Amino acid sequence: MNDFLDVFYKRRSIRKFTEEPVSRDALITLLKAGMSGPSGMNAQPWEFVVVTEDETLAKIRRNLMFAKMKGTAAICVLGSKRMQTNKAGDKFWVQDCAAATENILLAATALGLGAVWIGIHPVHIFERQVKSILNLPEGVTPFCLIIIGHPAEEKEARTQYNEKRVQWGAFPRTGKEKITEDDAVLSVEEEREHDIHDL
Ligand SMILES: Cc1cc2nc3c(=O)[nH]c(=O)nc-3n(C[C@H](O)[C@H](O)[C@H](O)COP(=O)(O)O)c2cc1C
Repeated sequence: MNDFLDVFYKRRSIRKFTEEPVSRDALITLLKAGMSGPSGMNAQPWEFVVVTEDETLAKIRRNLMFAKMKGTAAICVLGSKRMQTNKAGDKFWVQDCAAATENILLAATALGLGAVWIGIHPVHIFERQVKSILNLPEGVTPFCLIIIGHPAEEKEARTQYNEKRVQWGAFPRTGKEKITEDDAVLSVEEEREHDIHDL
């Protein structure tokens, strides 16, 4: 169990890579990890573009200002309206794709690979660039790029645990809050409006 938790702390953004290619088997393991992630109502509103050709990797490096790392592979996580299994994806696709992305990063760490998350959505110019480079079809939105390779740098494992960022239990009430205790209770109309089956 502790070995498993170590993967969380060992995962670091790796931006320096050797020239060794990432095997197809390893890439499939990463994709399985991504697709095993949680999603709202299991809508799975995602698709993945796997890039291993030098030409396309070079194009990404050349054009995207924050993706200059020389990985030997990249996975572009796409939000996918055309593949989502229900409408929950319309609301939750960003969270769903973030969960898939983190799963891929953790799996890369477990395999001894290095990886870094490059944010694309919601920056329109980055989305446009990725759409152009990967010739993306209608119905998908590039969420992020994950640059992957065999690591050529080591970083220390760490938790970043900070007690100051933790509130145990509800915050104490001062009586001056704009949101009151009554706001937790929904009217029948509000409940109907937000019925999960009508999302
Ligand atoms: C939404 C998001 C966008 C990110 N975008 C970039 C990026 O464009 N370029 C980059 O080098 N790192 C990027 N990162 C990686 C962060 O810089 C990194 O996670 C952070 O500095 C903490 O370091 P660690 O990953 O080693 O724990 C991004 C991470 C997230 C979650």
